[in-house]
Amino acid sequence: MGFQPTMKTTTTSLVFFLVSLLPLATCSVSYDSRAIIINGQRRILISGSIHYPRSTPQMWPDLIQKAKDGGLDVIQTYVFWNGHEPSQGQYYFEGKYDLVGFIKLVKQAGLYVNLRIGPYVCAEWNFGGFPVWLKYIPGISFRTDNEPFKAAMAGFTSKIVEMMKAEGLFESQGGPIILSQIENEFGPVEYEIGAPGWAYTQWAANMAVGLGTGVPWVMCKQDNAPDPIINTCNGFYCDNFYPNQPYKPKMWTEAWTGWYTEFGGAVPHRPVEDLAFSVASFIQKGGAFINYYMYHGGTNFGRTAGGPFIATSYDYDAPLDEYGLLRQPKWGHLKDLHRAIKMCEPALVSGNPTITWLGNYQESHVFESQSGACAAFLANYDQKTFAKVAFQGMHYNLPPWSISILPDCKNTVFNTARVGVQTTQMIMTPVSNDGFSWVSYNEETASYDDDSITTVGLLEQINVTRDVTDYLWYMTDVTIDPDEEFLKNGKYPVLSVLSAGHALHVFINYQLSGTVYGSLEDPKLTFTGNVNLWAGSNKISLLSIAVGLPNVGSHFETWNAGVLGPVMLNGLNEGRRDLSWQKWSYKIGLKGEALQLHSLSGSSSVEWVEGSLVAQKEPLTWYKTTFNAPAGEDALALDMGSMGKGQVWINDQSIGRYWPAYKADGSCTNCSYSGTYDEKKCQTNCGESSQRWYHVPRSWLNPTGNTLVVLEESGGDPYGISLVRRTVGSVCADVSEWQPTLKNWHIKVYGRPERPLRPKAHLSCAPGQKISSIKFASFGTPQGVCGNFWEGACHAHKSYDAFETNCVGQQWCFVTISPEVFGGDPCPNTMKKVAVEAICQ
Ligand code: GAL
Repeated sequence: MGFQPTMKTTTTSLVFFLVSLLPLATCSVSYDSRAIIINGQRRILISGSIHYPRSTPQMWPDLIQKAKDGGLDVIQTYVFWNGHEPSQGQYYFEGKYDLVGFIKLVKQAGLYVNLRIGPYVCAEWNFGGFPVWLKYIPGISFRTDNEPFKAAMAGFTSKIVEMMKAEGLFESQGGPIILSQIENEFGPVEYEIGAPGWAYTQWAANMAVGLGTGVPWVMCKQDNAPDPIINTCNGFYCDNFYPNQPYKPKMWTEAWTGWYTEFGGAVPHRPVEDLAFSVASFIQKGGAFINYYMYHGGTNFGRTAGGPFIATSYDYDAPLDEYGLLRQPKWGHLKDLHRAIKMCEPALVSGNPTITWLGNYQESHVFESQSGACAAFLANYDQKTFAKVAFQGMHYNLPPWSISILPDCKNTVFNTARVGVQTTQMIMTPVSNDGFSWVSYNEETASYDDDSITTVGLLEQINVTRDVTDYLWYMTDVTIDPDEEFLKNGKYPVLSVLSAGHALHVFINYQLSGTVYGSLEDPKLTFTGNVNLWAGSNKISLLSIAVGLPNVGSHFETWNAGVLGPVMLNGLNEGRRDLSWQKWSYKIGLKGEALQLHSLSGSSSVEWVEGSLVAQKEPLTWYKTTFNAPAGEDALALDMGSMGKGQVWINDQSIGRYWPAYKADGSCTNCSYSGTYDEKKCQTNCGESSQRWYHVPRSWLNPTGNTLVVLEESGGDPYGISLVRRTVGSVCADVSEWQPTLKNWHIKVYGRPERPLRPKAHLSCAPGQKISSIKFASFGTPQGVCGNFWEGACHAHKSYDAFETNCVGQQWCFVTISPEVFGGDPCPNTMKKVAVEAICQ
């Protein structure tokens, strides 16, 4: 399915030539102030980001289907230049990089595509998506009015546009792509660099529009985006954003569903009540397009993580978790929100809302169409208290920091803070009790050989490695006079090494003497330590490690990595010796990398040791084992908790960098959904590994004889590694007796109910599982959260009965929230709810 530059070129160019003659100017996608207009239909569109190389092609259909089931209309993705053109002029569109295949699957599912070509993408992706070779084009300067850069950018952008046209993928050709993006958040950079920045913006806009895609272009975070390009907003909230012209729609290209994890950082979470609140407030203020960034974050396989220090997991606390499983209640609550918004669509696209204050912190936004449609949003901005408001002759109860949606201006079908869907708790359980049986191979602690380069002074790392590997050895010799005092008094000299980053292992005479590393906030590092030198010649070998190239920041292409010095030895008879300007030898990558030990063919090139000789807690060790794929379809991961830092492969495919030894620094306090969110507000894992589990895609496994290879840098216990399944452990419902139901939707579909519709507590284990027991159930005033509920002052004594009868032994069940179901009202005139936790097995 992918673009093949070789055989197909002639046909492709012919098709492209013919397609380019089509009258693309009659666009079928346009816009006005209130809507994106597709084939004459005015739409409010809900979109979600799924980056194709962050999952496997085998996962794509399921991810796209779950996005559709979650109520999305559009899938948004960046295009990853460095994945598609790994070396200049050599294109790659296969496997995870089969862009055309991905877009066709989205089309098959009946969804649209928002294609963010960039080609700068940021995205916590290595080097922001730029190929590293780009940096070495003579005279180049990134993202400014620079001819070599503009030529390269125009080349790649038109290559992608032509590919899409050749496949008929733009909406103007009957395809799914309704919007494209050029650049990414260039506004702040332009502000910083001034005139050349503005010249570049105009050039980029003209270049993009000149490609004649027949669908609109957007520029995100670019307040001065030239017409006809639409400027859009990215952020946790965008309700106060407005486009730069009254005839452009209000668009939110990145509604952040969570945030990324960095090695050394805590894991961020964004409560869905606040996410839904931010979306509802964007829509009530006239928003026409919203995209969840990310809807599925996925995995930074291989060495694709940017940074430095971006973790391998790009889970993002997205509605679909890293493994592609539903994250509940996030996925379901947003699905309910989307259904409510869709019910309002006819009124929403009709004009601007009428806004009325209903109280100090309460407001209504009412949309009315000429044909009589009416939709209302009732907002309570108060962070602490419930509000009772009067609206069009009725009373409404609004929880703190919430918005109710009334698609007919009467019935509340949704409130952002009242979650009606279940919470799912996932568990990771070892596939078997038997550990892996390992063989090991000790990597060489660098010595000079034919591949090494020798020069005077210290070299910048990326200039030497061109980022083909994380590793660069810096090696030098130090001669110690037998008369040195320290040889007698044992006060060893102190070595100090300054590095621009990102991590460093120091070896003295082939023994690991220490490890230091920086962080995303400050990649620089200093090693200072006593070193055990002997009389005569000593070898100092510094293994400098890059942990992903920066993807953001001003002039990030100029950021350095590696040991730039000074390198000093203190405490000698002469006092201090500066080693920075002596002869240094360099070796790119590890020996095991050159031998391709991670591959089937390569791994037979060395002798692995077995049994009791297998290395443990030793630095620079390769480990290998084989295993059979566990039965079933459960998502799989490797628990790397016993290891330090390194990389891991299965059947030649790189799972990515692992680094459980880097513990999360941060504050993990209790978090309330209410009030303005930022990425530090709700975190977990403080003091634990930032990332312990590493996704093993099912499709990478054969039924038997899979090869697992681990490269450990600093020393770990391979017998602690296990393959685990990710499954649903338990499900909870926490539903108020006031939970809005989709009443008027029900009336439309089924007719008026005989009795008032009561909310229900729904519970559902994964397919193939059953509810084995009810861990907790209380109708009354229960407290706590899923996993840790307790009874409140009011508790119906028959709370368990209803769930035990209806649910145990079933895959899914529901119980109506009504006093008679629980043996009568335990506390009349008190607002009650049901909290329940059921175990899935
Ligand atoms: C945005 C950027 C995205 C991503 C995001 C953080 O500013 O456009 O590419 O980096 O931040 O996850």
